[in-house]
Amino acid sequence: MRWNARAYDSSFGYVSAQGAPLVELLDPRPGERILDLGCGTGVFTAEIAGRGAEVLGIDGSPAMIEKALSLHPGLDFIVGDGHDFTVAQLYDACFSNAALHWYSRDPDAVIASVRDALQPGGRFVAELGGAGNCSELTAAVSTAWREYGLREPALPWYFPTPAEYASRLEKAGFTVRLLEYFDRPTPLDDCPNGAADWVRVFGASLLEGLPPDLVDPLLRRVNELAAPALRRETGWMADYVRLRFAAVRR
Ligand SMILES: C[S@@+](CC[C@H](N)C(=O)[O-])C[C@H]1O[C@@H](n2cnc3c(N)ncnc32)[C@H](O)[C@@H]1O
Repeated sequence: MRWNARAYDSSFGYVSAQGAPLVELLDPRPGERILDLGCGTGVFTAEIAGRGAEVLGIDGSPAMIEKALSLHPGLDFIVGDGHDFTVAQLYDACFSNAALHWYSRDPDAVIASVRDALQPGGRFVAELGGAGNCSELTAAVSTAWREYGLREPALPWYFPTPAEYASRLEKAGFTVRLLEYFDRPTPLDDCPNGAADWVRVFGASLLEGLPPDLVDPLLRRVNELAAPALRRETGWMADYVRLRFAAVRR
């Protein structure tokens, strides 16, 4: 999908804000070489660099990398696909926040690319959407599409169960040290239009190819369907479920 880097940081900073404890889990040390996979605009790349590590941010979106380079001129960023990136020198750790669930084509290829970029003993510390993530949101999308006589859209995300992801990590040569799976209801503070705004930013690929005059009524219907579960007096709340892990390359 094509990301809107400007809107991402100004309106969806909560994605970055909520990842903060993940940097503590990574525990970057001065002089370490660390990858930030799916770095977006480089918020965490900069934070990790601020701890004295040497960081390379990788992202599949040229727009994100352009923004990251302009925001953090002293840091290194490259455009690369998580499925098949390679690095010239091995790294001490790979960090990834809120990105791996977008790498849905072949999760094993992603894990293998990370393994091959790490030295033995290297850490892979990441957080992604877990099984059941956004299930109310996506159910509302499926129902609305069906009601409008459209084929149910293929969702672009990979939301694994803890058992499934741990098994992939182990098969690829990682030892899993920590794996957490938890609900994280998340206020959609910057989505005055609720679920509809969420679909426009995070599910933009679902709207591709639709007749333009269908988009607004469809999204209005998504809001009606999602509201009973997700709209509170204080605003909209997304039904996020996260998977967070720390693994070590054997
Ligand atoms: C929700 S953003 C998270 C960005 C950043 N890690 C943060 O926490 O702010 C997900 C990022 O994954 C990137 N991405 C999606 N698919 C990718 C792929 N196959 N390879 C590399 N990056 C990808 C997107 O371009 C986007 O920047």
